[in-house]
Amino acid sequence: AEALKVGVAGLGTVGMSVVQLLAKHAAQIARKSGRAVAVTAVSARDRGKDRGFDVSTLEWFSDPVEMAEKAQIDIFVELIGGDSGPAKDSVRAALKRGVHVVTANKALLARHGVDLAVLAEDNNACLNYEAAVAGGIPIVKTLRESMSGNDISRVYGILNGTCNYILTRMEAEGIGFEECLAEAQRLGYAEADPTFDVEGNDTAHKLAILTSLAFGTKIADDDIYMEGITSISTADIQAADELGFRIKLLGVAQRTETGIEQRVHPTMVPKTSAIARIDGVLNAVAVDGDFVGEIVLVGPGAGGNATASSVVADIADIARGDETPVLGMPAADLKEYRRARMRMH
Ligand code: HSE
Repeated sequence: AEALKVGVAGLGTVGMSVVQLLAKHAAQIARKSGRAVAVTAVSARDRGKDRGFDVSTLEWFSDPVEMAEKAQIDIFVELIGGDSGPAKDSVRAALKRGVHVVTANKALLARHGVDLAVLAEDNNACLNYEAAVAGGIPIVKTLRESMSGNDISRVYGILNGTCNYILTRMEAEGIGFEECLAEAQRLGYAEADPTFDVEGNDTAHKLAILTSLAFGTKIADDDIYMEGITSISTADIQAADELGFRIKLLGVAQRTETGIEQRVHPTMVPKTSAIARIDGVLNAVAVDGDFVGEIVLVGPGAGGNATASSVVADIADIARGDETPVLGMPAADLKEYRRARMRMH
């Protein structure tokens, strides 16, 4: 068959890595998924910028919505970010045309996941988002597919690489918060607006997605208790250390007698625990399933190459012809939920 044509919207840290990965491993992706994949279109603001690869053979769009509406592509890869504006408009435009979408955009999914899932399923398009949660860790696939036989009681973990990097360096080297954050930004870990990292929003977005997948509930990021790491000082970290603890920003979702509880906050974890040893940009996600028991996945939670690894896996799934319901539930259920919500407002 002809190669699947991919359009990449957003050529920042992740977008660049995706283009490079697809070029470098084209042969093995074709072999493993049964179909060749090629980037044929890109969208970014500045065409002239030197990106280390030749854009002259690609269809170029300065407007991602125009690319989503007009480019001859099979898959639209959204790496713009943000829960509204061009990211949302372009994803909607692609899905409406039946173009498959791969996105790393947790803010968009946390806010509009249900609507987008309905739109995708109504148009027989895939909407894949492995890269949206915990960067390179394959947790979406794990929950959506590998653990689908389990009743899940809890999912929790370190879901923001920037915060974990900051806390790790503050502890190990006694460096101040601001300096650590600047370094995380330089390394390409942080969000465009890093307050989303350090105030806990990014963890909350990811947790909302995990909760939906784990418990079959609909995505809602508005009822998550949230506290970030901006008030943590090196003195706090030292005090915890003396007591035998380390401070980690955790996202936790668990089944309780009154419903699913979701929260994001700095947590003292015993130094002897596995989660205490997750350092730097690493993330860790633990899931309790009634048949499998607890599984823990650990890996890079941010950064261009690690995130590109997940984006490309989503592209390869589409090349292979996988069609998993977007939120692990059929569109009919989502529509009923949406109607119920509209009645409420
Ligand atoms: N800013 C995010 C983080 C990127 O630091 O984890 C990955 O989602």
